[in-house]
Amino acid sequence: MATTITITGAGGQIGYALLFRIAAGDMLGPDEKVRLRLLEIPQGLGAAEGAALELQDGAFDLLEHVEVTDDAATGFDGCDIALLVGARPRGPGMERADLLAANAGIFGPQGRAIAENANPGVRVTVVGNPANTNALIAAASADGVPAERFTALTRLDENRARAQLSVALGAPITGIRRVPIWGNHSATQFPDVTHATVDGRPVLDALAERFDDVQGWLDQTFIPRVAKRGAEIIEVRGSSSVASAANATIEHTRDWVRGTDDWTSAGVVSHGEYGVPEGLVSSFPVRAVDGEWRIVEGLELSDWARSRIDASVAELACEREAVRALGVL
Ligand code: NAI
Repeated sequence: MATTITITGAGGQIGYALLFRIAAGDMLGPDEKVRLRLLEIPQGLGAAEGAALELQDGAFDLLEHVEVTDDAATGFDGCDIALLVGARPRGPGMERADLLAANAGIFGPQGRAIAENANPGVRVTVVGNPANTNALIAAASADGVPAERFTALTRLDENRARAQLSVALGAPITGIRRVPIWGNHSATQFPDVTHATVDGRPVLDALAERFDDVQGWLDQTFIPRVAKRGAEIIEVRGSSSVASAANATIEHTRDWVRGTDDWTSAGVVSHGEYGVPEGLVSSFPVRAVDGEWRIVEGLELSDWARSRIDASVAELACEREAVRALGVL
């Protein structure tokens, strides 16, 4: 049996970077056949149809079927994995409340369509921003589907954090582990090096050998660099992160299905862990066990880490309030 994967916004940039890697087996492995559903709005259908033609020309062994549609019920019919990439970007002069309202108009109906049409056990990875709150809206709209099935992508932030540590320490990326992201996928996020290791040694010890003022480096260089990396990419490249975002989407979803051997980061629904209000979709350190994300519990948090996490979680709570004010939740 093939796995049916629905990609919304499949005619966009990240969609284009995702489709061919999924068809090549990068997400579910070399033995899993895939059926792709490309869900777009009418204006994006041409780009998605073009991508479907190219998928055909890729002659991928694992690709059983491709369908392009602008109908959500068709797009999510029999879906096992939904990658919700299509979202409304912030336009000029758009306030945050307008942005949340526009996205509620996308992720609410998509959540309902998932509940009505997807397979039981569907896994949803929300990429489109504001990703955490979009995941919350979709989950709240999907009657009968456990909220744990809706996640937000923060793996790109974690990858950026590990990459910055690799550069700062002159150490290969493979040796750098346990660098979770906490909170929102936004400038308030907290990339946490407290428990991180480099080749099994505490990262904090390795940083102390390189920097006189490690705390200053973390606050003034590392955290802003990671949190504002998206803006840096736009400035240098002239366009937002695409291939790295697609790569992180594939890694997040692959780990969710196939399991992790260590911590990673994902935006998942809180049950009150670490004092994060219940129901918020917040990034946490997680492991994937038996096809489910589990929050790594029992970590000690310094006052500094606590205040950073609280600030990002407060932003998530504000976003939830703004969505509630729209009558969406
Ligand atoms: P893009 O503008 O190239 O593509 C978006 C596509 O979504 C367009 O083809 C559009 O027609 C489609 N779309 C819009 N509304 C839709 C709907 N209701 N249903 C189906 N499709 C719809 O944008 P790009 O570069 O592909 O980025 C997509 C999203 O990913 C953005 O919201 C961006 O901010 C977000 N993003 C998230 C990251 C993360 O780490 N969570 C990292 C990078 C980007």
